[in-house]
Amino acid sequence: MTSAQPVTRSPYLAGNYAPTAEEHDLDLEVVAGAIPDDLRGVFVRNGSNPRFAPEGRYHWFDGDGMIHAVHFTADGARYRNRWVTTTGFEAEREAGAALWTGILEPPDLSRFPQVFKDTANTDLVWFNGELLALWWLGGDAYRVSLPDLETLGTEDFAGTLTSHIAAHPKVDTATGELLFIDFDPIPPYLTLGVVAPDGRVVRSESIDVGGPRLQHDLAFTDDYAIVFDFPFMWETTATANRLRFHRDRASRFGLVPRSGTADDTTWFETDPCFMYHVANAWQEDGIVRLIGCEISDPLVDDPDSPGDRRAAPEIAMLRLEPYLTEWVFHLDSNTITKRRINDEIAEFPKIDVRRTGRPTRYTYLMRFAPLETLAFDAVIRHDLATDTTASHPWPDGWYGGETVFCPRQGSTAEDAGYLVTFVVHEATGESEVHVLDAARVGDEPVCRLSVPVRVPTGYHTWWVPEADLRASHRSG
Ligand SMILES: [Fe+2]
Repeated sequence: MTSAQPVTRSPYLAGNYAPTAEEHDLDLEVVAGAIPDDLRGVFVRNGSNPRFAPEGRYHWFDGDGMIHAVHFTADGARYRNRWVTTTGFEAEREAGAALWTGILEPPDLSRFPQVFKDTANTDLVWFNGELLALWWLGGDAYRVSLPDLETLGTEDFAGTLTSHIAAHPKVDTATGELLFIDFDPIPPYLTLGVVAPDGRVVRSESIDVGGPRLQHDLAFTDDYAIVFDFPFMWETTATANRLRFHRDRASRFGLVPRSGTADDTTWFETDPCFMYHVANAWQEDGIVRLIGCEISDPLVDDPDSPGDRRAAPEIAMLRLEPYLTEWVFHLDSNTITKRRINDEIAEFPKIDVRRTGRPTRYTYLMRFAPLETLAFDAVIRHDLATDTTASHPWPDGWYGGETVFCPRQGSTAEDAGYLVTFVVHEATGESEVHVLDAARVGDEPVCRLSVPVRVPTGYHTWWVPEADLRASHRSG
């Protein structure tokens, strides 16, 4: 791109957001407590880690995907990090320089259909015996080996996949299905897909949301997939690529029957908002309950903002002031009731994913530090049964990443497990892995392990139990 502007200094290239240039395989030293005997498996975390100096203005979401993993075994814990070697990553490696600009620059139509680089940098999911790395804008699902983190290629589900897959597909452990969305600035603006347990796409259907929308997640219950039509819209032209928030339009939540078609979707309307992440959703008598993190004022420099803003972190034009919120969809009256569950500015909600789509009592959230950039100063556990919160602040000067819930080996009870995350000292880059008892979040960590290299701040996590890993190797 010769038309790109000079690189704008981004806070997300400095401090602990700065990428690492190295890939490592290292044994970890326990510095406090002990690795629990019933914690066996691989903790994985994706993130943005540009291999080359970015072309044009940099957005934190632009960097190449890099996965960091900790494998807990009877012999100890081993850390690895590897780039996801996407086709874009390989093309730039061959060129020896960045070839793509990022989302703050106009789309490079000469690179159609990959006008922005598919980095697979956002999310991870374990489905059908393999780990998939996914991209927030919707791209290929990259298969990644465990525990080695080698990129194995893209998953096309035996040739049945006809769309891309966006971040945050959801596994239904009851049916063995994978539900996913894809979205585009051109029709079809939103696609809902389902992969059957045999690894073939059995549903791929466009959902009418009327135009380009920023999408980031979906939810499901026993009978419904839940999709979103928030008034947070892309305006992408040959010369611009920006978002607008339309306060004069409703937010729409679509309940799409899992056994029907998109034509049978029931839409529920409520106040304009945006939501990046769902915690969970499920059905009760006559209602569907959805728990997620609502943002009602999602744009920096929004001339129509009501102005009563708490300080909140920003990522370029994105303003992050989320609150854990419950939407109840009343199926008989087609109405919504909504309530804010928690007044902490917190996001990245996690649950025991074996319960996705079914009732859950506990949500684990990352509380935002009072900084201009996104950093988590505590993990909090919200108990929906009592509407009470327990918190675990990270030590002064340290920030944690997204935690993942790891069930105790052999246990099926909710909350019987551990929360695992990377925790990094802001000033020194000193990095650790912390293991908390999920049922006693406020206690000292069960175990702390020292990582001898800096682990940059990243995004989403997953936990692959050792039993799943072994079963996958036997079948594979
Ligand atoms: Fe996300």
